[in-house]
Amino acid sequence: MVRQDKKNKQPFTMIIFGASGDLTKRKLMPALYELFKDDRLDSGFSIVGVGRSEYSDEAFQAYQTEQLKEFVADEEQDKTLMNEFVNHLHYVAMDSANADDYPLLLEKLQEITGEKQPSHLLFYLATPPSLYGKIPLHLKEVNLNQSGARIIVEKPFGYDLQSAQELNEIYASVFEEEQIYRIDHFLGKETAQNILAFRFANCIFEPIWNRNYIDYVEVTAVESLGIEKRGGFYDGVGALRDMVQNHLIQLVALTAMEPPVRFNADGFRNEVVKVYDSLRPLTDEDFEEHVVRGQYIREGNKPGYREEENVPSTSRTETYIAMKIGIENWRWSGVPFYIRTGKALPTKVTEIVVHFKKTPYQMFQCNEGDCPDANKLIIRIQPNEGIVLRFGMKKPGTGFDVKSVSMDFTYDKLGDVSIGDAYARLLEDCIQGDQTLFTRSDAVESSWRFFAPLLDYWKENEDAPLYGYPVGTWGPLESEAMMNDHDATWTNPCKNLTNTDQYCEL
Ligand SMILES: NC(=O)c1ccc[n+]([C@@H]2O[C@H](COP(=O)([O-])OP(=O)(O)OC[C@H]3O[C@@H](n4cnc5c(N)ncnc54)[C@H](OP(=O)(O)O)[C@@H]3O)[C@@H](O)[C@H]2O)c1
Repeated sequence: MVRQDKKNKQPFTMIIFGASGDLTKRKLMPALYELFKDDRLDSGFSIVGVGRSEYSDEAFQAYQTEQLKEFVADEEQDKTLMNEFVNHLHYVAMDSANADDYPLLLEKLQEITGEKQPSHLLFYLATPPSLYGKIPLHLKEVNLNQSGARIIVEKPFGYDLQSAQELNEIYASVFEEEQIYRIDHFLGKETAQNILAFRFANCIFEPIWNRNYIDYVEVTAVESLGIEKRGGFYDGVGALRDMVQNHLIQLVALTAMEPPVRFNADGFRNEVVKVYDSLRPLTDEDFEEHVVRGQYIREGNKPGYREEENVPSTSRTETYIAMKIGIENWRWSGVPFYIRTGKALPTKVTEIVVHFKKTPYQMFQCNEGDCPDANKLIIRIQPNEGIVLRFGMKKPGTGFDVKSVSMDFTYDKLGDVSIGDAYARLLEDCIQGDQTLFTRSDAVESSWRFFAPLLDYWKENEDAPLYGYPVGTWGPLESEAMMNDHDATWTNPCKNLTNTDQYCEL
């Protein structure tokens, strides 16, 4: 498979903090290997792993070779290329929390680059978030923030508004905003970016993309897995912080934003922030009526959340959340956005469904339950990436029976053009110095500012409702009821998705 639009290669040395961890082996190394295999990396690049685990360069190369064999798709594995790739890897065993260890890193980088003040550095923070505020300060002490170094920070960027602001202050004291890349891998997905192309490269949608024609919008990002073995991490976080504050709200922004004056990092990110700033502030009424949080409970032999490893038996952490939110601006006033995310649901799917208004009256004869639906546009982010438009068509034959049919595009129809991995795309952007798909400091804060009152409400009202839902169901029934006042319903894809056009009733 080939990806298109190769860019000029840029020299770089990437330092991965957390190199012995899960993210590095599952996502970062496979993505870097993909770029290498696709001849998209400068020949002199180096990758330096950092962690407390002891490895020599050779042992680290051997370890990463094993991981690549596991996490790179079989058809993409090429033994010779893998060997060449891992020859670019180095390792420094150090404690990233300890300032005294940083001269070790400096020395290693001087040795690798042959420069007294190493340049073209990219730091990737894939450590526990507790280190996100420390590493930049320690880098500064040994001047590794100089010479145009860039820093990529994994989510979560902050735990709430205050901690995000504190982190932003720390980063601003060490780096310029142009050096900071807050990564949200949802934005690296081709289908997420395609929302922009779909909206702004086609004239036909713009006139109807507003409150006059759109009735409501759903944004869904759910998965069938529970929290697996990640209870220790997840229980202090929950669905709102893990998915909504970053990924879901990004998808809302892509759907709702105005076209940027120019499509560059500033132009795009200015419009994202404007959407966040236009979100209608949440009130007590919203907390009580327009937010449903849930937690999965045992179904048959599938354990409930409170039975998972490292989860307290009294935990009130939400594994599901559905919310109705509004955007107060000229385009969207009065159009509800229903957003939801959850674990242990019937399937894994991320999609946006735009519901258009019904025709002013029903001209054609139809029986109750068999009448044509209002038009729907379904943008599937994953899996079976694609777009489906539902519209009414006359059934062949006598009379005028009208039924809903689909017109669809799926990415697999592009043949041998790979849609590429989100991390590979984002890492390449960072190497190129393109910040468009990375979150700017003001966007992080604006998003947290919107959700902060809800987090405060839950903190102050410990007995605020938390509904149980059996593993494998579409969340609490209250999430259906939440939409009744708008005569709306969730679009629930079938259990085992095999085709973009498969939708089923609950
Ligand atoms: N895993 C994912 O799919 C994923 C997805 C999105 C975001 N993230 C974020 O990415 C970050 C890393 O996640 P992960 O799943 O890879 O975690 P992980 O498997 O626990 O790995 C953490 C890494 O940090 C290193 N580390 C911890 N304390 C250190 C210290 N004091 N000094 C040096 N290294 C230290 C560990 O290495 P040593 O023990 O050798 O020191 C390990 O390599 C997290 O913030 C997570 O929220 C992860």
